[in-house]
Amino acid sequence: MGDFLTEQLAQFGDDDIAHGMRYAVGGGKRLRGFLVLESAALFDVPQERALYAAAAVECLHAYSLVHDDLPCMDDDDLRRGQPTVHKKWNEATAVLVGDALQTFAFELISGEDAGTAEERVALCASLAKASGAQGMVLGQAQDIAAETAGRPLTLEEITDLQANKTGRLIEWPALAGAVLGHADSAPLRAYARAIGLAFQIADDILDVEGDAALAGKALRKDADAGKATFVSLLGLSAAKARSQALLAEATAALQPYGDKAQSLRDLAHYIVTRDK
Ligand code: IPE
Ligand code: IPE
Ligand code: MG
Ligand code: MG
Ligand code: MG
Repeated sequence: MGDFLTEQLAQFGDDDIAHGMRYAVGGGKRLRGFLVLESAALFDVPQERALYAAAAVECLHAYSLVHDDLPCMDDDDLRRGQPTVHKKWNEATAVLVGDALQTFAFELISGEDAGTAEERVALCASLAKASGAQGMVLGQAQDIAAETAGRPLTLEEITDLQANKTGRLIEWPALAGAVLGHADSAPLRAYARAIGLAFQIADDILDVEGDAALAGKALRKDADAGKATFVSLLGLSAAKARSQALLAEATAALQPYGDKAQSLRDLAHYIVTRDK
């Protein structure tokens, strides 16, 4: 899918925004795009069709990171082992690169090669919901509010925050496969919710135990910021036990798909054991 995304972004020419867009989508693990392709493959959706939704979610995710790193948000200098977009260019460019990536995501899934008219509307509407004021944006706002709340969040509050902040953009790609395959979305939803939570627990564990050179971003920020995380609330070993339980849950949810779901099982395993 990397090649496809590169080809799609080639149309944007030679200005700073175009360069910034290509820069910002580079170097990630591409988990969300992979989830689209693998969930679509369960239902034999042609890959050339699923690639649009895969590229779209990676653009949307990259936009969320460019804005997340801005000085008014997390104020980070390093992302994916490289200077963040506002460090490499400037803040205004980073805001606009994020904006352009977000709108391009919708352009990708609304074009006629991305599916039937009905599928494309369903993909656009669900991506808008997952990323907007009731999804990722809400989660980011909850995350910022938590820093000034004057008390650590409860486990219930942090679970809700994370489900919005990172969970929704992990759920969407799994559900996109079901949309394109006209299939029951319940098993994939259960799988995606389990790996979404496991993904965030892993992010919190990495923040404590990880190697910043491997992760390609600053670590040990959560405790300094006084953030309640799964690790601060549960402790390291209970957080690890919880992510193992979520791995078992995710694997069980894939049972209806048998051997066809092996890459999704492997992905769940990777998410809980990842070191970057
Ligand atoms: C990082 O996401 C941001 C969070 C949602 C915690 P990833 O760990 O998937 O980042 P990339 O895309 O691989 O850089
Ligand atoms: C980022 O969460 C989530 C989104 C961009 C939606 P974090 O702020 O925890 O991610 P990192 O640690 O910077 O990758
Ligand atoms: Mg953040
Ligand atoms: Mg951040
Ligand atoms: Mg983090």
